[in-house]
Amino acid sequence: MTDKARLHDRYPELGRCNLPVAPYIDPSYWEAEKKYLFKKTWLHIGRVEELPRKGSYMVRDIAALDASIVIARDRSGQINAFHNVCSHRLNKVAYEPYGTTRKFFCKFHGWAYDLDGSLSGVPDEKSFMDGFDKACHGLSKVSCDVWQGFIFINMDPEPAQTLAEFMEPMYGGLDGYPFEKFTACYGWTAVVDCNWKLALDAFQETYHVGYVHGRSIADSLEKDEEGNLHPIDGLCGDVHRRLSIAGNPNTVYGNPQAATSGATESSVSGSADIGKRIAGKALAAGAGGTKIDLSKVKLPEALNWTNHPHWAFDINVVFPDFYLSCRPNYFQAYNFRPIAHNKTLFEARVYYPEMKTAGGRFYQEYMKVTLRDVLLEDLGTLEMTQSAAETGAKKEMVINDFELMVRHQAVVVDRIINDGLAADAAAQAAE
Ligand code: FES
Ligand SMILES: [Fe+2]
Repeated sequence: MTDKARLHDRYPELGRCNLPVAPYIDPSYWEAEKKYLFKKTWLHIGRVEELPRKGSYMVRDIAALDASIVIARDRSGQINAFHNVCSHRLNKVAYEPYGTTRKFFCKFHGWAYDLDGSLSGVPDEKSFMDGFDKACHGLSKVSCDVWQGFIFINMDPEPAQTLAEFMEPMYGGLDGYPFEKFTACYGWTAVVDCNWKLALDAFQETYHVGYVHGRSIADSLEKDEEGNLHPIDGLCGDVHRRLSIAGNPNTVYGNPQAATSGATESSVSGSADIGKRIAGKALAAGAGGTKIDLSKVKLPEALNWTNHPHWAFDINVVFPDFYLSCRPNYFQAYNFRPIAHNKTLFEARVYYPEMKTAGGRFYQEYMKVTLRDVLLEDLGTLEMTQSAAETGAKKEMVINDFELMVRHQAVVVDRIINDGLAADAAAQAAE
């Protein structure tokens, strides 16, 4: 122990105790998370670019919501969300994950719905009972809104907060970040046999990087004088959280100027190591390769809020399951969507500016395969951690100061579950 100021000192309400393991392995806790948390909050579901024109739609089956949701762009350009359930006898109205259509036609008995969800056609309509009114039988609406091009849904028909109110306290300052300019997207999905919180935890601390990623990207982050990989700073909000990370500019992965300017091969490849030589080539090849001139894009001041000279990126965890890592030259958007108490759908997407040169494409491909390998390192560890947690050998986890975000997530989720249980108990007692 030292007398050094700790991140934890700023957030006494989060406590300093060990964290209980039960919320990561208990099926009944997962049921409570669905009821009190996921069905009551805003959830990121995709980007507006996925619905490029009027009539574009996507279907998302979200286990945490026990629902299949259609998100569609209507004739006015507005994005709406509905339950994927026909009002007649409950068939799905859309089967494909993506598509473009003029209307949704239910394949069971042919009912037709407009892009805004209203019921527009009923075969043999006169055979329905007197008083049947199409206007009363549109698709069931789900709350839907857009923040910075990210589409969110909320199962609560009247959310306690608008999406803007939900995002403003931690992320209002990200206005002006060029999300819409990073249009070259690639990604992966994987079903991982672990709890969603356990998965997200591994992406909101740097403590593991020197070990899990010891042979891949550990040297991309800046070490302190004692050789530790500490984040620059961390911020905890009511539910969201942020972490600021310094990079090692003498690596391709930790260099925020890569593919824009200022990065040279020699700073990376001064080594006999073949991996480093390839990295150096990728860095040099990518220089100046972007179609847009990123040096002219002014990043919002809320990024790198400590103004650290070697700042590489911020990790923004948008509660509950959306990880948004904003960098000067690209961004990562990951979702950790729970499927069960010990199963998570990991959706990783990375958005780059489009490249105008072959070298730029080479750099991008290099970054892509590097990230794929790094993610595999993370996910492999997580499955082992979950199975170890489920042995019951340990009832608690020990948390260090720089794992504050792990604590924040556990405390916030638990607070919401306990508030929900208490409200239900009070309502029952009042009956
Ligand atoms: S269930 Fe859709 S038309 Fe009958
Ligand atoms: Fe990792």
